[in-house]
Amino acid sequence: MDSKEIRRRFLAFFEKRGHTMLPSAPLVPENDPSALFITAGMQPLAPFLMGNPHPGGRRLANVQKCVRTQDIESVGDATHDTFFEMLGNWSLGDYFKEEAIRWSYELLTSTDEGFGLDSRRLYITCFAGDENAPRDEESACVWRSLGIPENRIYYLPVENNWWSPGENGPCGPDTEMFYDITPAGLGELTHEQFLWADDSQQTVEIWNDVFIEYEKRAGKVVGKLAQKNVDTGAGLERLAMVLQKKDNIFDADLFAPIMAELPAGDGRNASVRARRIVADHVRTSVFIATDGVSPSNTSQGYVLRRLLRRAVRFADLLGMPPLSLARIAGCVPHAYADIYPELETSQGAVQELFEKEETLFRKTLHRGMREFKKLSHANISGHDAFLLFSSYGFPFELTAELAREHEIAVDEAGFREELAKHQELSRASTEGKFKGGLAGGSEKELKYHTATHLLHQALADVLGESVRQMGSNINAERLRFDFAHESKLTDEEKQKVEEIVNEKIRENLPVQSVILLREEAEKTGARHFFKEKYGDTVTLYYIGPDLAHAYSKEFCGGPHASRTGELGTLRIVKEEAVSAGLRRIKAVLE
Ligand code: ALA
Repeated sequence: MDSKEIRRRFLAFFEKRGHTMLPSAPLVPENDPSALFITAGMQPLAPFLMGNPHPGGRRLANVQKCVRTQDIESVGDATHDTFFEMLGNWSLGDYFKEEAIRWSYELLTSTDEGFGLDSRRLYITCFAGDENAPRDEESACVWRSLGIPENRIYYLPVENNWWSPGENGPCGPDTEMFYDITPAGLGELTHEQFLWADDSQQTVEIWNDVFIEYEKRAGKVVGKLAQKNVDTGAGLERLAMVLQKKDNIFDADLFAPIMAELPAGDGRNASVRARRIVADHVRTSVFIATDGVSPSNTSQGYVLRRLLRRAVRFADLLGMPPLSLARIAGCVPHAYADIYPELETSQGAVQELFEKEETLFRKTLHRGMREFKKLSHANISGHDAFLLFSSYGFPFELTAELAREHEIAVDEAGFREELAKHQELSRASTEGKFKGGLAGGSEKELKYHTATHLLHQALADVLGESVRQMGSNINAERLRFDFAHESKLTDEEKQKVEEIVNEKIRENLPVQSVILLREEAEKTGARHFFKEKYGDTVTLYYIGPDLAHAYSKEFCGGPHASRTGELGTLRIVKEEAVSAGLRRIKAVLE
């Protein structure tokens, strides 16, 4: 079964069971300062898991593009990649364990509408219980009722079977499904044997059903949510591998066309790993760049830079000629033409960006290697690792990898300290973690979110309707807003924008939301983020007494301050160019 059919069957199965299909959100989260990328399908849904009504109703499903780089060192084994598609279904205070588990089981095993997997090759894990929540007998009981024998259900602790996206936000125990991919079949496994089979990748985790009914704050479970939710995630690449009877994701259909473009290698571990790393990093970089990120030394741009530069190194190990990455990038869009047509549209620009970054890197690589050799007679200090980073463009991982090859150590903590001193990069280290949309965020962040809507409208008032939001980022200290505009703002323009926003704050307008059909919402003239694809119904936030007289109207998932009067006073602290035609404003509330 090819990946296209897997996606189709997944969505059709849940559509038939009353789920609204949602489009994939862009990889770079909107209005969420605590995450660089979307790492799970539930991430954009966090406010709704916390209780906000979702315009699509209580049953949702989608295929979500995700980037996770915290396991980058594992890329090269059978099942790890830095980009993947997550097939997910959600219940927002609707069905719970019984239906979620039954449907997962039916979809995995049914031959007509599902994937026809062999139930005798399934192993299940459930939460073992701790001071926050009991042992999950409820889930185990559902599994037993479906015919999974007791000795194939394993109870594991919080590190394995509790899912939370970060330090704050919705979370809960989960039950995970593993599939035996060995030719002969593993049969019965004791607890220890199961753990070993998983470690040695004889079984593959293919699906995770999370029962989100708890909330975390500052890393601690603080209590139950008002509603019980289901959040599931199945990795498309892993399902494809299992269904196509491959023993690794790179031989399955999504990676195969990319792998085919790489040199065959000598079949030894190092070259197998190098081929997989190049394929993985190129594919992830294509997706990230397509969603508007350019290589840089901060945030998302730094992740892209790291991936591309690491790919260059491994391409070199494979003996590929310079600038091969751009060529490899050219075979990614085709494999996704039916689902992400934007990859084809931006293919030329993305390839150009790959070439530029590779050229830039090669200019410094040579000098950097000389410097590294000088340093490598002893362990590398944080200061030297930072020097390699700042003067020679060596991402930390590159230094770490070279150090490993030379059997010396690098002071990572020291490097991070240097880095923190030099730039505002602390967010890169929190990558992969997030606060749960703004739901887990502070009051201050809600205020900045509302201030962002006012600023957006005020910019349109002063500069004209062509002002278009290109990005937004909020934390408790400031808002940052990127928009399309050709020229630098004059002092008068900046002052005018501030005055308008502050006048709207003084008017103490209510901030309200309505759920509308997308066409109706569009007719109101509400602003929306141009990169985002929206579902059939959308939430529209408006600032003013009613929709007809609102000062600002935007498609937005919230949450917001309840009245503008809470905001304080807005001051623009910086206005600068990000690139040609793209301006950035940083502003604070005082
Ligand atoms: N959010 C869950 C996960 O990422 C489904 O595994």
